[in-house]
Amino acid sequence: MYHYELLGGGTEHNFRKTLFIFFLCVIGLLLVFQLTNSKEEPVSKCLGSVTVPTVAPQQSTPLEQTTSKPTVAPQTSTSQEVTTPKPTKHVWDTMDGEGYQFSENNGPIVLDERYEKLNNLPACGDLAAVQVKPDVLEKVYTARKEFLDCINPIVAKYKGKPKEMILDWVAQVEICDKLPVFESLGVVPFENLHETKWAVLPKCKEENNLLTLGVGHDTIAEEKFNRTVPNTKFYGADPIIEPNRQMYSAFGKFFPFAIGKQPGFTKFRVLPNQNQKTRAYVFQDVTTIPFLYFVKDILKFKRIDFAWIDIEGGEFEFLDQLHNDITICQFNIEVHMKFRKEDGAEVFSEFIFKVLENQKYIFMKSLYTDVGVHRMFFINVQSPECLAKFFGQWN
Ligand SMILES: *[C@@H]1O[C@H](CO)[C@@H](O)[C@H](O)[C@H]1NC(C)=O
Repeated sequence: MYHYELLGGGTEHNFRKTLFIFFLCVIGLLLVFQLTNSKEEPVSKCLGSVTVPTVAPQQSTPLEQTTSKPTVAPQTSTSQEVTTPKPTKHVWDTMDGEGYQFSENNGPIVLDERYEKLNNLPACGDLAAVQVKPDVLEKVYTARKEFLDCINPIVAKYKGKPKEMILDWVAQVEICDKLPVFESLGVVPFENLHETKWAVLPKCKEENNLLTLGVGHDTIAEEKFNRTVPNTKFYGADPIIEPNRQMYSAFGKFFPFAIGKQPGFTKFRVLPNQNQKTRAYVFQDVTTIPFLYFVKDILKFKRIDFAWIDIEGGEFEFLDQLHNDITICQFNIEVHMKFRKEDGAEVFSEFIFKVLENQKYIFMKSLYTDVGVHRMFFINVQSPECLAKFFGQWN
């Protein structure tokens, strides 16, 4: 019997041999499945139906409703929807695996109810030659005076204390936002996905320009503006090309670079396309174009009607150029102290003192949007062109 077995042969032994080989094959196959499982979604789902019965189908969140690309997202992207713990371990990196998902927007464009009225305004004519109405001047100057009376004593407390000033900023100055005289300025909101831009609408008709520095994958406010104020040309710059180019091109001209003071190639805090879900900004090398070069040489603007600036710390580079080097009628700006820890407070403080000294701008709508980040809205009350265009027909 022994001998017989060792030498092999006979049907009984052949049967055992086949069984053994069969088991080897099964184990081998299982191993192969296991390996592919960790890489590929379809296999994992197939296996899942046997061993992990509660793998939920991918639910579409609003951002994912229509996919322009096939979904090859790693399992992590659906981790919230899966109730059983995953056998495979994933390292969370800055890529959440998917770019911006454009929704199919086939509905008709609905114009804002103010569009008609704005479209029928009298032509602006040569604003540089226009005399601002005396009553307009008087009213704007009253607003400016009341603003300065409110803000000057507050800011004066922070002379020589830039750090304290920026830390206390919103809590201290928001009281001046409540000045009754501001109500008659006609400042209206344009809501973005993540914040609000403010504007005073034109009082005469001509081509308007709106400059977006830092598109940040969010053009809702621009689109609202486009449907509200006729004849507006939009120009947007952001060093992250997609999805910003595609979004902005729907209504305006997109420029794929960062804006700073010096030309160069520097680390900038940007929001990559893959990080839609986490909205995790990362530092990347980007090409920087000087602010004044962009506005004067590339765009060839004599004046900016609306500037919306949200460039993650880059704003500190050219705050000093907003005083005298360019005419901007109105601008929204986000000040990111947290990305300019070294001297951000000093730069901001110097900027504010100069603004109050020059009395060219009044500002309002100071609001924290994050720790060490606040927004503000500035109105030019000095340029006759701006006054004529935006306040010419006050009342
Ligand atoms: C922009 O506004 C114009 C009306 O001035 C409208 O015809 C156009 O469809 C709008 N574009 C977008 C993308 O909303």
